[in-house]
Amino acid sequence: MRHDHLITSKQFSRADIETVLDYAAEIDADPSAVADRHAGTLLGLLFFEPSTRTKMSFETAMKRLGGDVVDMGSIESSSVKKGETLADTVRVIEGYADALVLRHPKEGAATMASEFVDVPLVNAGDGAGQHPTQTMLDLYTIRENAGLDDLTIGIMGDLKYGRTVHSLAYALTNFDAHQHFISPESLQLPREVVYDLHQQDAPGIREHDSLEEILPSLDVLYVTRIQRERFPDENEYQKVAGEYQIDSDTLEAASDDLTIMHPLPRVDEIAPEIDETEHAAYFEQAHNGVPVRMALLDLLLSDDKAIGGEGDE
Ligand code: NCD
Repeated sequence: MRHDHLITSKQFSRADIETVLDYAAEIDADPSAVADRHAGTLLGLLFFEPSTRTKMSFETAMKRLGGDVVDMGSIESSSVKKGETLADTVRVIEGYADALVLRHPKEGAATMASEFVDVPLVNAGDGAGQHPTQTMLDLYTIRENAGLDDLTIGIMGDLKYGRTVHSLAYALTNFDAHQHFISPESLQLPREVVYDLHQQDAPGIREHDSLEEILPSLDVLYVTRIQRERFPDENEYQKVAGEYQIDSDTLEAASDDLTIMHPLPRVDEIAPEIDETEHAAYFEQAHNGVPVRMALLDLLLSDDKAIGGEGDE
């Protein structure tokens, strides 16, 4: 039976999120209970952009569910190099795999590709668009460290090109969360994202150009990398590179309970001296990718379960 594709965090209702997070927590507590659930299942990996965490944690998750992966490999070694279209590539690989995971530099690529395949397709990042599975592990980490309701979160850095930010911001509108967006003016959230967030009746959306004024009130600070590869002009990157760095001096004004997150990879946004403090949750966050993706894959691949709204009717 066909299940929905997972393209954007806008698909997630609060109930969907709670189902996935509860199930991920169950798997985290006893992974052996699901070790054979998807024996013989093959997950197709199509990564047209670099990835360490996302790709390896999908691979680990599929293997820990008893399945395996088939990997297109690098663009350099695939037929893409010969000029094959994305539509053709996904149609071929769906014949080899039970579900597909796609990362692509072009916003909208996952939506387009999903229209050509019948197996579930998961968006693992489409340009500056969305990264919904990262959002699930972010939500899992927030829930574990600070709770999702009555949350005050600061999201800082490259809000323009950061797809993890766009996905997380939409998902948080399902909760009683106050979201503070901190960036230089040139890297503010795209106006259409701000518009959509307001349409969701999100309780508190505020934009700032400095962390200082808001830091003491934050439960979570979600730091992001400036997405250098998405800047049309390297000079524009150089103007903002190195802004908004966090070190122990910055944190003097923070609450003792502040949780610092980052989707990783970091460049220089968080000084290494923070790593050993109680604030740092970013490595735990990366590790949470495995149980969360196990839960998501199981829900997408099982006939009796549904996420993402319409399910398998
Ligand atoms: C992020 C991405 O690819 O969007 N990485 C990830 O998946 N953890 C963030 C980034 O590249 O800065």
